[in-house]
Amino acid sequence: MAFAVLAAVAAAPALAADSTFEAVKVTAGETLFKAECRRCHAPDADHDSYGPPLENVVGRAAGTYPDYDYSTALEASGIVWTPAALRAWMEDNDGFMPGTKMRHVGISDPTVQEFILAYLSSITTQDNSAVSK
Ligand code: HEC
Repeated sequence: MAFAVLAAVAAAPALAADSTFEAVKVTAGETLFKAECRRCHAPDADHDSYGPPLENVVGRAAGTYPDYDYSTALEASGIVWTPAALRAWMEDNDGFMPGTKMRHVGISDPTVQEFILAYLSSITTQDNSAVSK
């Protein structure tokens, strides 16, 4: 009993630190998203967006945002936006997918990629497990 209480107390600060770190990453990622992506991408369909809105993008099949006019390259790519694919895309999108109409974005800093990814995960509220297969 005493051990169980002790274990619970010991675990609590670690959990709090984890979620604080996650929240900091999301906030930093939102700032970076605004600087690097927002001029072309809205987070949702309520705002004008030159590129496809990026809500629910993590784990989603590429080229499937409803009614968006994708390039043939992206629409036919058959890929799923896993975290690894999103990192490769941020690093060198037109190298990763020749023929895309997204202008080159070269974010090679893994920390910046990770923060933007944390933000994209935070705006992914839909369960994409069905489309990721
Ligand atoms: C200069 C405008 C521009 C900028 C800046 C830009 N994008 Fe894009 N993005 C586009 C366009 C246009 C497309 C559609 C590409 C196509 O159809 O080939 C796109 C497509 C995408 C897709 C595919 C979405 C889907 O539904 O399959 C992702 C993911 C993406 N962009 C992420 C980002 C991220 C993250 C950033 C910032 C690091 C960013 N983009 C910056 C214009 C831009």
